[in-house]
Amino acid sequence: MERVYVLDTTLRDGEQVPGAALNAREKLEVARQLAALKVDVIEAGFPASSPGDAEAVRGIARQVRDCSVTALARAVTADIDAVWEAIREAADPQIHMVLGVSDVHIQGKFRRSREEILEMGVAAVRYARKLCPKVQYSTEDAGRADREYLCRTVEAVIDAGATVVNIPDSTGYCYPQEFGDLIRHLFEHVPNIHRALISVHCHNDLGMATANTLAALRAGARRVEVTINGLGERAGNAALEEVVMALKTRPDYFGLETGINTRELYRTSRLVSSLSGIRVQVNKAVVGANAFAHSSGIHQDGVLKERSTYEIIDPREVGVPESKLVLTARSGRHALSHRLESLGYHLPEDQFEAVHRRFLELADRKKEVLDEDLEELVSDTARVVPQGYALESLAVSCGTVGMPRAEVVLRRPDGSRFTGRGEGSGPVDAAYKAVDQGVGMPCRLLEFSLQSVTEDIDAQANVHVRVRVGERVYGGHAAHTDIVVSGVLAYLNALNRAAQDADGR
Ligand code: KIV
Ligand code: ZN
Repeated sequence: MERVYVLDTTLRDGEQVPGAALNAREKLEVARQLAALKVDVIEAGFPASSPGDAEAVRGIARQVRDCSVTALARAVTADIDAVWEAIREAADPQIHMVLGVSDVHIQGKFRRSREEILEMGVAAVRYARKLCPKVQYSTEDAGRADREYLCRTVEAVIDAGATVVNIPDSTGYCYPQEFGDLIRHLFEHVPNIHRALISVHCHNDLGMATANTLAALRAGARRVEVTINGLGERAGNAALEEVVMALKTRPDYFGLETGINTRELYRTSRLVSSLSGIRVQVNKAVVGANAFAHSSGIHQDGVLKERSTYEIIDPREVGVPESKLVLTARSGRHALSHRLESLGYHLPEDQFEAVHRRFLELADRKKEVLDEDLEELVSDTARVVPQGYALESLAVSCGTVGMPRAEVVLRRPDGSRFTGRGEGSGPVDAAYKAVDQGVGMPCRLLEFSLQSVTEDIDAQANVHVRVRVGERVYGGHAAHTDIVVSGVLAYLNALNRAAQDADGR
């Protein structure tokens, strides 16, 4: 296996994302985590952009000693000096400079000729090499450049002393085969190319950043410039986690390896997301919340029998403790019983059937059934709930206009139905008055407590009530995604206990 080197530019290109700027302390925290991830080079910032960024880069260069530290300069002496000042104390410093190579940059941005730009680049490399033994030259917008001019530039900057030459697809313009061809072309037409490390830096404007990076590796590039979570200018850069896991998952195809400690990938992704405030999309490859979550019954059954049926990466390899079986209305019995067992419930057949029935009812109302919901279902099903009055339907109207009103249809123990109506200070009060009409048992509500079982907007509401009937106090309990329904069920639960008690006496 040949080694691929990884330069992480989350703290430079990634930090260019609007709103993602980090302060020096946060940058240092990310840099430390990148070192734990074992990236080869950290691009820590752009020192000429602000004194604060120069200071942040200096802090990283001083304190993160396990990898090389670089920072970006334009190909002018002032910027190069600023980089050198910031990184000179690094264990392994590297100056990175960038200069356009496409005609649209040369003419549109610099308003110079190709020859002038080439001379400027060569002079900047010579200057930087006097300061630092490692100098990277980035041929900005190489993806849209004239190939002959690009080859001449690469050859000239290597002759001038560049130790790394980076070929960026700065605008994410290329397609994988095309970008791979470009890298191959350079290896075939630049005579001194083997004196430098060839790096690639791909943007994601057409969604090709990872594919282009991998195509370049197949064509001979041996260093990648990537970011955590694919952060970066506009649509972002190639995602470190995607490139690294592609190489690790398909050694048969690439025959390449990185030095990345992949078990730190998930932690790094979370850290960058929380500090930058840029959330990771749930279906993001490798580190998204759903990357190892299985929802359909067919997939869940397959994964439970043999993980590799639907998973090509073992989640533990990227630092995710285990795959997740999301319990939804489409989950099967296998997934439900597996999850119940992992929660410590080994239910007898009849109880499992009851829990399964209630699970399906709940799953139809809720997007995802969580562990807390299951615990509630199990304890609810296991409880001996006396038969008695049952709720058939409930309708309430409430709000800021008029009195809250409720109408309930109850089924009596003898099977007959009754409709009760009530008005009250709130929807629960109105519903309880409607129930009282039907049950006709004088009672006083002593306590009503409401707790959400889970966290989301579609969480189950868990209601506990205590009612006094005659001399005795009865408790009732129920859970439902509708607060008023759960309140009425809990109330009926308590009244049924009282009724059963009276019958038994
Ligand atoms: O996209 C780009 O070309 C860059 C360079 C500085 C490498 O970010
Ligand atoms: Zn870039």
